[in-house]
Amino acid sequence: MSNVLILGANGQIAREAINLFLDTTEANLTLFLRNASRLNISNPDREHVIEGDVTDIEKLKEAMVGQDVIYANLGGSDFVQQAESIVEAMHAANKKRIIFISSLGIYDEVPGKFGEWHKNTLGEILVIDRKAADVIEASDLDYTILRPAWLTNNDEIDYETTQKEEVFKGTEVSRKSVAALVVKLAESPEMEIHRSLGVNKPNTEGDKPAFVK
Ligand SMILES: NC(=O)c1ccc[n+]([C@@H]2O[C@H](COP(=O)([O-])OP(=O)(O)OC[C@H]3O[C@@H](n4cnc5c(N)ncnc54)[C@H](OP(=O)(O)O)[C@@H]3O)[C@@H](O)[C@H]2O)c1
Repeated sequence: MSNVLILGANGQIAREAINLFLDTTEANLTLFLRNASRLNISNPDREHVIEGDVTDIEKLKEAMVGQDVIYANLGGSDFVQQAESIVEAMHAANKKRIIFISSLGIYDEVPGKFGEWHKNTLGEILVIDRKAADVIEASDLDYTILRPAWLTNNDEIDYETTQKEEVFKGTEVSRKSVAALVVKLAESPEMEIHRSLGVNKPNTEGDKPAFVK
């Protein structure tokens, strides 16, 4: 039975992951988020809530005590600072394993018209996402970075992965699929360590995600 710390626990992928952890594993969850009153707790025996901002290193260090896996579901304009804060707190708390959600396109690995459209649409966000991933990859942590395709709320688990040196596949993937991969990684401590994985739904190649007009 593992102890999992979820950072950004009210995020949309995180909420899918919480449900899957509760339904399919015996993991104990520590849910770290801003404005904790937003969360609905369905299993108080296995869900422990900590209200905090990830850039608060002292709070983060306290939250890491007793954890086996840290799962970061974050983002935003201070993403680099968030990543630095996580690395510092993990060092101080003597923690190694992190699953870190990033984004497709940070290595310019998305081919063709979709790649161009994605880069133009995201602009500076991609630069920030790359820098945050660089902070995690430059650390000595046992990281797995996930780079999901454009996210849908489809109620399906259907994904494939690509490695960092491979061309990205597809255009979209469901949040539930990314959550399922997070749960699998959290339950398999040796899986995909020091890797950065693209995550997409098979057979969704195109010039744009199908749901974008
Ligand atoms: N949309 C797409 O198609 C797409 C594709 C690939 C990757 N991504 C990226 O994947 C990530 C996860 O996706 P998602 O749908 O779960 O995103 P989301 O719902 O926006 O979740 C991100 C969470 O990060 C939290 N957060 C941000 N800064 C924080 C801080 N300083 N301290 C604590 N929490 C903080 C936010 O908290 P608050 O609720 O308090 O603001 C939010 O709940 C996002 O970064 C997104 O950019 C998105």
